[in-house]
Amino acid sequence: MTLLLKGVRVVDPSRKVDGTGDLLIENGKIAGIGGGLQQTGKGRGKGVPPGMEILDLRGKIVVPGLIDMHTHLREPGFEYRETIASGSEAAVAGGFTSVACMPNTNPVNDNRSVTEFIRRKAAECGLANVYPIAAISLKSEGALLCEYWDLKDAGAIGFSDDGRPVMNAALMRRALEYASSLDMPVIAHCEDRNLSAGGMMHEGFVSTEIGLPGIPGIAEEVMVARDILLAEYTGAHLHIAHVSTAGAVRLIREAKARGVLVTAETAPHYFTLTDEAVRSFDTATKVYPPLRGAEDRDAVREGLRDGTIDVIASDHAPHARTDKEVEFDFAASGITGLETSLALSLGLVEEGLLTLPELIEKMTVNAARILRIPKGTLADGADADITVIDPQREWTVDRGLFRSRGKNTPFHNWTLKGKAVLTIVGGEIRYRDC
Ligand code: DOR
Ligand code: ZN
Repeated sequence: MTLLLKGVRVVDPSRKVDGTGDLLIENGKIAGIGGGLQQTGKGRGKGVPPGMEILDLRGKIVVPGLIDMHTHLREPGFEYRETIASGSEAAVAGGFTSVACMPNTNPVNDNRSVTEFIRRKAAECGLANVYPIAAISLKSEGALLCEYWDLKDAGAIGFSDDGRPVMNAALMRRALEYASSLDMPVIAHCEDRNLSAGGMMHEGFVSTEIGLPGIPGIAEEVMVARDILLAEYTGAHLHIAHVSTAGAVRLIREAKARGVLVTAETAPHYFTLTDEAVRSFDTATKVYPPLRGAEDRDAVREGLRDGTIDVIASDHAPHARTDKEVEFDFAASGITGLETSLALSLGLVEEGLLTLPELIEKMTVNAARILRIPKGTLADGADADITVIDPQREWTVDRGLFRSRGKNTPFHNWTLKGKAVLTIVGGEIRYRDC
């Protein structure tokens, strides 16, 4: 299919492009940007060949296909929460052309057969690119390393025991060394289980008032500090998942200044909500790490602004009604995010905290670089993975309309501004709302 996207604002942070013009897509690849962009390319000045579909997208923004580097697709094993198919539908509806999926499935993605299964299923769905993240340790139990070379060979792009911390520092050291020999990142879920034990929400004034056991910020920070030291010692690439506290942001900022190879992500709920949301006892607000205090939220925002936090990832953690419609103590933790992540993140641009190119950089090329995947760019010849955003579209979140099986969102009924209206993967339209 040949597609011409006309009259769009093209924002491609990978090449520092921001201007108005046309984008040509041919045979699944970017075939040039023309018009006012002053880019050279085949598309420039060409007549309209037969069979070309022309989309007039004036007022819309075209960006490299969004990448969500932290998603839980739940398959194999927890298909009642999400499947690779339903998660892929949610991804493209949310504007994501690529997702990296966490290994806490059943069985855990700690061996080649699970990695291959995920890739095969995703290819059958044919919606989004799905990149499996394999476990750091067998069954994510924190005792024995997996076969990293074999997992890489099967298609894994990183290692994480997400959902569980690696409590054994010696194992974490070996994980960093092994992953680094393969030029792959270790993605750390930073939580000291001895400090967080029994906690259900952020430890602070609100937890004291409403009487729920707390998880102190320090539970995250001691592990961020440890893992930074191990990354510094080994020279390996450490990526810190779901940063939620002011102390963690400070530690990462200082480590980067020292030249440690550390990158970091946060999720929209950490820069949007605080522990005040938990007063509702709505189990959709239960998530690990927990929604923190206002100072933490503000520090996360500042970390995004000054570049300490490289990536916004959804940490899409879908759960079934039976997991969440129970007392707070018994509820599963996690927030579904693929279909709200972009609009919540665009809020940062609306507020002036980030420019649009800065935001798009955190949702595309930065994730691609961390995962070493050839995505996140609109360069000539690149795969035509493209997201078209209507920045003016106001819409109200209705969890009943989610493609995801997980309806567990604290943003139900929120009115947000900005939406993906066209998602193109490999030159094919996979989602359209315009
Ligand atoms: O709240 C969470 N849910 N935090 C995690 O780290 C894992 C996730 C899940 O898998 O549900
Ligand atoms: Zn997670």
